[in-house]
Amino acid sequence: MDIREEFPMLKNNIIYFDNGATTFKPQIVIDSICDYYQNYSANAHRGDYNISLKTDMMYENARKKVKEFINADKLEEIIFTSGTTESLNMVVEGFFGNYLKDKDEILLTKSEHASNILPWFNLCKKNKCVVKYIDLDEDYKVSLENVKNAITSKTKVISLAHITNVVGDIRPIKEIAEYAHSLGILVVVDGAQSVPHIKVDVQDLDCDFLAFSGHKMCGPTGIGVLYGKYELLDKIEPYYLGGGMNTTFLSTGEVEYKSLPQRLEAGTPNIAGAIGLGAACDYLKILDLDKIHEYESKLREYLVMKLKNLDNIEIYNENSESGIVAFNIKNVFSQDTAIYLNDYNICIRAGSHCAKILKDEIDIKNTCRVSLYFYNTKEEIDKLIHLLKNSDTLYNQIL
Ligand code: ALA
Repeated sequence: MDIREEFPMLKNNIIYFDNGATTFKPQIVIDSICDYYQNYSANAHRGDYNISLKTDMMYENARKKVKEFINADKLEEIIFTSGTTESLNMVVEGFFGNYLKDKDEILLTKSEHASNILPWFNLCKKNKCVVKYIDLDEDYKVSLENVKNAITSKTKVISLAHITNVVGDIRPIKEIAEYAHSLGILVVVDGAQSVPHIKVDVQDLDCDFLAFSGHKMCGPTGIGVLYGKYELLDKIEPYYLGGGMNTTFLSTGEVEYKSLPQRLEAGTPNIAGAIGLGAACDYLKILDLDKIHEYESKLREYLVMKLKNLDNIEIYNENSESGIVAFNIKNVFSQDTAIYLNDYNICIRAGSHCAKILKDEIDIKNTCRVSLYFYNTKEEIDKLIHLLKNSDTLYNQIL
């Protein structure tokens, strides 16, 4: 069967190039969610009857699938959250809130997404620690050399996207982690744009924490993951308290927490979300992440080659390695381009893409972004290119 037929949204005659924002869902993921709501819709970890026991089993089975998907060492290292944003907030507040002290330095780059910058800014206000930025090279990439140059005796943590959501560069996380660890520096990875597109093996990367979202990898919205090495994750202060995460509490205020992972998953979890994410992991595993990356790389190459043939297009990340391509039609505001393409049922994203300080580096505030996934095709790219061609129609319609 053609892979595209597995995605109901692709039957809507739509060309979808906004996979960095969210991806479409294959029928098998949708079915797994419906199956939960239609056939065993009970709470998890709370009932002693059959449908509840099935829910427990399916929810924990999803954790196992995620563990295997990123090759974590232990099941307890997988915490379900609502998405990358919650995962990063949890690690910044819950772990680094107790770890960083006055004048300690956090290394980021200016191409990080807001969710890997704003929680750190917030922590700096409370703990008086300091955010410093690693210089980017001429292609807006991070090199190990630049990381080394940015490290000082006060650096305690480096927090980086594995793949950035505007430039689409793949960071050398394994090399960075190896060097950072030799100096006792911890490494946090925002995997929102990498886990869906390339094979991510947390033991091989040796990162300390990894955050990612279900909805960018064919899974549902509202579910994500925080991975952490057990001994570090175990130090996180629970930042939601409530049912399911305690073994006992007394009227005097004494509370005993459960062990990981339940301690960090207070309240009724997103059961359908976790089950859907587990199904998405199965789906992507069968497709094979290496093949997905290879296909997306070829598609990107084709798109960049076609865009370069157009004299009215400026590309900002020609030399990136992922399926993300940032560009503008010369002298046209990016959102106008997006609205124009929408008239032809083509979805791209325009704006600053939540990376609002990247403009300091790239010298342009708003870009158009095409972010590809394995179900996109050359024919779709040809349609886009046809519409972007320098012509009177284009400028009449846009301006
Ligand atoms: N972070 C998502 C994006 O890059 C929403 O579009």
